[in-house]
Amino acid sequence: MHLKLILTLGLIVLFFNPAYATASQDGFKVPFAYGLGKNLFAKNCSGCHGKWGKGTPNGPSLMHPVYVSSHHGDQAFYRAALNGVRSHHWKFGDMPPVPGIDRATLNKIVPYIRWLQQKNGIK
Ligand code: HEC
Repeated sequence: MHLKLILTLGLIVLFFNPAYATASQDGFKVPFAYGLGKNLFAKNCSGCHGKWGKGTPNGPSLMHPVYVSSHHGDQAFYRAALNGVRSHHWKFGDMPPVPGIDRATLNKIVPYIRWLQQKNGIK
Protein backbone atom coordinates (compact mmCIF):
# COMPACT_ATOMS: atom_id res chain seq x y z
CA MET A 1 0.00 0.00 0.00
CA HIS A 2 2.07 2.85 1.30
CA LEU A 3 5.23 0.88 0.85
CA LYS A 4 7.17 3.75 -0.68
CA LEU A 5 6.20 6.09 2.11
CA ILE A 6 7.13 3.54 4.75
CA LEU A 7 10.47 2.85 3.09
CA THR A 8 11.21 6.56 2.81
CA LEU A 9 10.34 7.18 6.45
CA GLY A 10 12.47 4.21 7.44
CA LEU A 11 15.44 5.63 5.58
CA ILE A 12 14.93 9.05 7.15
CA VAL A 13 14.82 7.49 10.63
CA LEU A 14 17.96 5.47 9.88
CA PHE A 15 19.80 8.49 8.51
CA PHE A 16 18.97 10.82 11.37
CA ASN A 17 19.11 8.27 14.16
CA PRO A 18 21.66 9.59 16.68
CA ALA A 19 22.50 5.97 17.49
CA TYR A 20 24.28 5.97 14.14
CA ALA A 21 26.37 9.01 15.06
CA THR A 22 30.00 8.07 14.70
CA ALA A 23 32.44 8.30 17.55
CA SER A 24 35.67 10.22 17.03
CA GLN A 25 39.06 8.73 17.75
CA ASP A 26 38.78 10.48 21.10
CA GLY A 27 35.61 8.55 21.82
CA PHE A 28 33.07 11.38 21.89
CA LYS A 29 29.87 11.11 19.87
CA VAL A 30 28.78 13.80 17.46
CA PRO A 31 25.40 15.06 18.68
CA PHE A 32 22.38 15.07 16.41
CA ALA A 33 22.53 18.86 15.95
CA TYR A 34 25.97 18.61 14.33
CA GLY A 35 25.35 15.44 12.30
CA LEU A 36 24.73 17.25 9.03
CA GLY A 37 27.71 19.56 9.61
CA LYS A 38 29.89 16.53 10.23
CA ASN A 39 28.78 14.88 6.97
CA LEU A 40 29.31 18.08 5.00
CA PHE A 41 32.73 18.57 6.59
CA ALA A 42 33.62 14.99 5.67
CA LYS A 43 32.56 15.63 2.08
CA ASN A 44 34.14 19.06 1.57
CA CYS A 45 36.99 19.57 4.03
CA SER A 46 38.29 16.34 5.54
CA GLY A 47 40.30 15.39 2.44
CA CYS A 48 42.80 18.06 3.49
CA HIS A 49 41.90 18.88 7.10
CA GLY A 50 41.41 15.29 8.24
CA LYS A 51 38.43 13.21 9.26
CA TRP A 52 38.29 14.87 12.69
CA GLY A 53 39.81 18.18 11.59
CA LYS A 54 43.27 17.26 12.84
CA GLY A 55 45.05 17.69 9.53
CA THR A 56 46.54 15.58 6.74
CA PRO A 57 49.65 15.96 4.57
CA ASN A 58 47.44 18.23 2.39
CA GLY A 59 46.26 20.67 5.01
CA PRO A 60 46.68 21.87 8.58
CA SER A 61 44.82 20.76 11.67
CA LEU A 62 41.91 23.09 12.39
CA MET A 63 42.14 21.85 15.98
CA HIS A 64 45.05 24.23 16.47
CA PRO A 65 44.89 27.25 18.81
CA VAL A 66 45.58 29.54 15.83
CA TYR A 67 42.10 28.66 14.45
CA VAL A 68 40.02 29.47 17.55
CA SER A 69 37.29 32.03 16.97
CA SER A 70 39.20 34.87 18.63
CA HIS A 71 42.02 34.45 16.11
CA HIS A 72 40.19 33.15 13.02
CA GLY A 73 36.58 34.28 13.34
CA ASP A 74 33.77 32.53 11.49
CA GLN A 75 34.21 34.96 8.58
CA ALA A 76 37.72 33.58 8.02
CA PHE A 77 36.15 30.13 7.58
CA TYR A 78 33.58 31.37 5.08
CA ARG A 79 36.23 33.32 3.21
CA ALA A 80 38.65 30.38 3.11
CA ALA A 81 36.06 27.96 1.74
CA LEU A 82 34.46 30.39 -0.74
CA ASN A 83 37.58 32.19 -2.00
CA GLY A 84 40.49 29.98 -1.02
CA VAL A 85 43.52 31.00 1.03
CA ARG A 86 47.03 31.90 0.08
CA SER A 87 49.47 29.82 2.07
CA HIS A 88 50.72 31.94 4.96
CA HIS A 89 50.68 29.94 8.20
CA TRP A 90 52.16 26.65 7.05
CA LYS A 91 53.93 24.83 4.23
CA PHE A 92 50.94 22.91 2.86
CA GLY A 93 50.51 25.27 -0.08
CA ASP A 94 47.44 27.33 -0.96
CA MET A 95 43.91 26.24 -0.14
CA PRO A 96 41.87 26.39 -3.36
CA PRO A 97 38.24 27.55 -3.22
CA VAL A 98 36.16 24.49 -2.31
CA PRO A 99 34.22 23.40 -5.43
CA GLY A 100 30.45 23.73 -5.12
CA ILE A 101 30.54 25.18 -1.61
CA ASP A 102 28.00 27.83 -0.57
CA ARG A 103 27.04 29.79 2.53
CA ALA A 104 24.14 27.48 3.41
CA THR A 105 26.54 24.52 3.51
CA LEU A 106 29.04 26.50 5.57
CA ASN A 107 26.25 27.48 7.99
CA LYS A 108 26.28 23.78 8.92
CA ILE A 109 30.03 23.14 8.70
CA VAL A 110 31.36 26.08 10.72
CA PRO A 111 29.34 25.41 13.92
CA TYR A 112 30.42 21.75 13.69
CA ILE A 113 34.10 22.80 13.53
CA ARG A 114 33.59 25.14 16.53
CA TRP A 115 31.97 22.32 18.46
CA LEU A 116 34.85 20.00 17.54
CA GLN A 117 37.37 22.61 18.68
CA GLN A 118 35.62 22.84 22.06
CA LYS A 119 35.61 19.06 22.40
CA ASN A 120 39.35 19.13 21.74
CA GLY A 121 39.78 21.67 24.49
CA ILE A 122 40.76 24.63 22.32
CA LYS A 123 38.64 27.74 22.61
C1 HEC B 1 42.50 20.94 -1.14
C2 HEC B 1 42.79 20.99 0.27
C3 HEC B 1 41.83 21.73 1.18
C4 HEC B 1 40.47 21.59 1.30
C5 HEC B 1 39.53 20.67 0.52
C6 HEC B 1 40.08 22.50 2.34
N1 HEC B 1 41.15 23.16 2.85
FE1 HEC B 1 41.15 24.59 4.28
N2 HEC B 1 43.16 24.85 4.06
C7 HEC B 1 43.98 24.11 3.23
C8 HEC B 1 45.35 24.56 3.39
C9 HEC B 1 46.55 23.99 2.67
C10 HEC B 1 45.32 25.62 4.34
C11 HEC B 1 46.51 26.39 4.94
C12 HEC B 1 46.82 27.72 4.25
C13 HEC B 1 47.93 28.40 5.02
O1 HEC B 1 49.10 28.03 4.86
O2 HEC B 1 47.61 29.28 5.83
C14 HEC B 1 43.93 25.77 4.73
C15 HEC B 1 43.49 26.73 5.62
C16 HEC B 1 42.18 26.83 6.08
C17 HEC B 1 41.72 27.82 7.03
C18 HEC B 1 42.53 28.98 7.61
C19 HEC B 1 42.24 30.21 6.80
C20 HEC B 1 43.05 31.41 7.18
O3 HEC B 1 42.52 32.53 7.11
O4 HEC B 1 44.23 31.27 7.57
C21 HEC B 1 40.41 27.57 7.25
C22 HEC B 1 39.48 28.34 8.18
C23 HEC B 1 40.04 26.43 6.44
N3 HEC B 1 41.14 26.01 5.72
C24 HEC B 1 38.79 25.88 6.40
C25 HEC B 1 38.38 24.91 5.48
C26 HEC B 1 37.02 24.44 5.38
C27 HEC B 1 35.86 24.88 6.25
C28 HEC B 1 37.00 23.52 4.36
C29 HEC B 1 35.81 22.78 3.79
C30 HEC B 1 34.64 23.56 3.45
C31 HEC B 1 38.36 23.45 3.83
N4 HEC B 1 39.17 24.29 4.54
C32 HEC B 1 38.76 22.64 2.77
C33 HEC B 1 43.57 23.11 2.38
C34 HEC B 1 42.26 22.71 2.16
